[in-house]
Amino acid sequence: MIEYERREAGRGSGFILWFTGMSGAGKSTLAKAVRRELEPVCSVEILDGDEVRTFLSRGLGFTRADREENLRRIGYVARLLARHRVAVITAAISPYRDARDELRRLAAESSIPFIEVYAQARLESLIDRDVKGLYKKALAGEIPHFTGISDPYEPPESPDVVVRTDEETVGDGVARILSALRERGLLSRG
Ligand code: ADX
Repeated sequence: MIEYERREAGRGSGFILWFTGMSGAGKSTLAKAVRRELEPVCSVEILDGDEVRTFLSRGLGFTRADREENLRRIGYVARLLARHRVAVITAAISPYRDARDELRRLAAESSIPFIEVYAQARLESLIDRDVKGLYKKALAGEIPHFTGISDPYEPPESPDVVVRTDEETVGDGVARILSALRERGLLSRG
């Protein structure tokens, strides 16, 4: 296990690790794996799309307006937590570049470090794996506005970290995410 500690034990700043990527690309898996690494050294919270939509964003659908509202809410809660030195990990598709840029801007306005992580996988491999069986339905026209099939996904132009989830292991991805945090001075080796 990689050993590190928050720069000023318990006094370091919070941050937002914002995952973006299509459904099934491994955002939640990576988020949980990063949480396991951070938990021994700081407070961590995951705001996961599926869970958020059960509570905070219940009733919102998948139109552009509803997704933007969902992301605004996640961003708002993320900033509240990060302000209190929590390491916040978000795992929602966040398909729109403008919306992500706005979230980055709002974080910067509150002096909260914002690290964008792109969980990238080829559409064919997502369709092949189809963990939740949603791609099959979307391809059959049973789910309107499905990201990557009948709704856009705008890949980030300059993400802080890219994890090729269909090619590299979770461990490799986590290691690169942790080094990005270290480079930003958010973690340091113990
Ligand atoms: S986001 O676009 O608003 O960021 P979010 O991450 O919260 O999306 O929710 C995505 C999850 O909702 C997917 O992983 C999938 O399980 C489910 N889902 C249901 N309908 C859709 C759809 N039309 N497009 C994408 N995901 C959908």
